[in-house]
Amino acid sequence: MSGTSPGADRAADPRAAAACGDAAAGVGIPTVGAALRAATARLAEAGVAEPRADAEVLLAHALGTSRAGVVAHARDPLGAPAAARFAALLARRAGREPVAQLVGEREFWSLPFAVDRRVLVPRPESELVVETALALAPAARRVLDVGTGSGALAVALARELPRAGVVALDRSAEALAVARANVARLAPRVRLVRADLGAPFAAASFDLVVSNPPYVATAALAELAPEVREHEPRLALDGGPDGLDSLRALLAEVPRVLVAGGWLVLEMGAGQAAAVTRAADARGCWCGARILRDAAGIERVLAVRLERAG
Ligand SMILES: C[S@@+](CC[C@H](N)C(=O)[O-])C[C@H]1O[C@@H](n2cnc3c(N)ncnc32)[C@H](O)[C@@H]1O
Repeated sequence: MSGTSPGADRAADPRAAAACGDAAAGVGIPTVGAALRAATARLAEAGVAEPRADAEVLLAHALGTSRAGVVAHARDPLGAPAAARFAALLARRAGREPVAQLVGEREFWSLPFAVDRRVLVPRPESELVVETALALAPAARRVLDVGTGSGALAVALARELPRAGVVALDRSAEALAVARANVARLAPRVRLVRADLGAPFAAASFDLVVSNPPYVATAALAELAPEVREHEPRLALDGGPDGLDSLRALLAEVPRVLVAGGWLVLEMGAGQAAAVTRAADARGCWCGARILRDAAGIERVLAVRLERAG
């Protein structure tokens, strides 16, 4: 907020606003705090899971400040331009558009990724893929991210492995356009490729392959929260009848492009670990399986090592 009041775009006396509490300057202009309370109630009514937090983020965005700035200026009047911006954001959030899409950004691996409805919003649990890959393959020099979406995994790995060449592929041209902007800003050496997961790379081209593929069973898509179901790309979510189509395809295709001894690190959905491990065992070329749990205790990541070329 660079020291200015959120109400600075409207002529009002903040001292009067403070004295008035909810209505600034005694003329019915709401304070920041009052707007926040009303917005929280509205979002709660709309079924939003974290109404207060979301209202703070959106109000901060409308004011061009931080959440702490919103709280610090709770007694200031909310200027008309900011109030209009906030009202528009709030209406969209009440319609269950994801917060990250409304503000156009989501933090992942402490980096700001631009996001919109062309890509999956990067999830905190996907950081476990990055952590696992770095722990198992710290010397990887050739890295592939399959289904890169916003570019989150590829960019994080490129930043952590400065000597590695990183390739990121996605079959969606729209997702790649978003990834291109993130890569340009955050890790320009990542090479983006539009391709299917069976892309024709030369044999043994990579030391490490990571992927957070679509893994929701088709029938379960209808049960997802509206934020996901209606606003995130189906191609990023739909994993086929049992959710495992892409995971099985990766276990079958990656052995050709991975060097013997290289690691494949996969994100998977809750309850899928046993089936994915069985699918890996059935290929006969994977060894050293590890399953990692996320912060919620869910078996979220499978890492397997290529024993011999597929
Ligand atoms: C769950 S999103 C993951 C995005 C990003 N890696 C992340 O973790 O936030 C899956 C991505 O895989 C892409 N995708 C789905 N099927 C694919 C396929 N057969 N080949 C390549 N990419 C695919 C989708 O377009 C989507 O961007």
